[in-house]
Amino acid sequence: MDNVLEVKDLHVSFHTYAGEVKAVRGVNFEVKKGEAIAIVGESGCGKSVTAQSIMQLLPKPPVDYKQGSIVFDGQDLLQKTEREMQSIRGKEIGMIFQDPMTSLNPTAKIGHQIAEGMIKHRGISRKEAYEHTLDMLKLVGIPEPEKRIDQYPHQFSGGMRQRAMIAVALACQPKLLIADEPTTALDVTIQAQILELMKDLKEKIGSSIILITHDLGVVAEMCDRVIVMYAGQVIESGTIDEIFYQPKHPYTKGLLKSVPRLDMKRDEPLYPIIGTPPDLLKPPAGCPFFARCESAMRICRDHNPVLEQMGGTQQAACWLHHPMAQVAAGNENGGGR
Ligand SMILES: Nc1ncnc2c1ncn2[C@@H]1O[C@H](COP(=O)(O)OP(=O)(O)O)[C@@H](O)[C@H]1O
Ligand SMILES: [Mg+2]
Repeated sequence: MDNVLEVKDLHVSFHTYAGEVKAVRGVNFEVKKGEAIAIVGESGCGKSVTAQSIMQLLPKPPVDYKQGSIVFDGQDLLQKTEREMQSIRGKEIGMIFQDPMTSLNPTAKIGHQIAEGMIKHRGISRKEAYEHTLDMLKLVGIPEPEKRIDQYPHQFSGGMRQRAMIAVALACQPKLLIADEPTTALDVTIQAQILELMKDLKEKIGSSIILITHDLGVVAEMCDRVIVMYAGQVIESGTIDEIFYQPKHPYTKGLLKSVPRLDMKRDEPLYPIIGTPPDLLKPPAGCPFFARCESAMRICRDHNPVLEQMGGTQQAACWLHHPMAQVAAGNENGGGR
């Protein structure tokens, strides 16, 4: 099988005092062997909930996996017990978070934390694990590994902690690595170093990667495909070239126009997307981007478009690409609202 991961029609809600927050609403995507995909979109659009659903890290309740499946290596993770998940986490799927202190244990030596998984999951001896741990520390670019191996997380700087967390996540050579905004908390030069490291490791370790980030520059450099999420749904997906050079969804176009690029002229303006995403307590019946979309038509208000094939491998959920859209736009709205 070519796909390491297949997320099918995933619906995830939080039951809160205010009501049901429909955080993920029918998400579909797959990750192929050795492939790096990016999930992009504004804050609150369901990227982290999707990632944490794969790892089964969200407490049930308040979380409710209402529908769908997450097939990893041929098995549905939503059907696994917590015990079964424990042997998949770390060994088969590694995860890197924004804040390394949430996943590193402050009371255990770094070396121990890297070696622990290897001893537990790979059944190797302590001596071998020690050697591998030194190799991992070197691989992620931590200087003086013989000294660092016996230190605690608080003795590491922010960037070094992030490297250590990557070493922990990669120690068992997981088939899939999920990185949720791995560099957002770091300063810019360290960010660049960590991303360079991840790019390098992608080649060396051969894991498939899901990278969640705001940084479209990094996406373009590191990933093979992009999934664009909005209001808990995938609204567009395609290869890097498809998404960057011929985005189909007005939201994707907006995202691309709202970030600075190196090739921009000095006086070229940035266009923020006006407005905010809808409240997921009461998601709208129509297209979730309707209220912010400059090209919205009447149908967009009441009917949510589904993902359609756009040619190549690109998919987009937008009525503007319906074969009848020109007619509809011409007759009813004159192309606008
Ligand atoms: N513990 C929670 N309780 C209630 N709602 C939550 C919780 N965590 C996340 N959400 C909601 O789920 C939606 C998706 O959140 P999230 O996946 O964290 O967004 P992203 O990672 O894309 O910024 C948001 O609307 C957020 O408010
Ligand atoms: Mg997030």
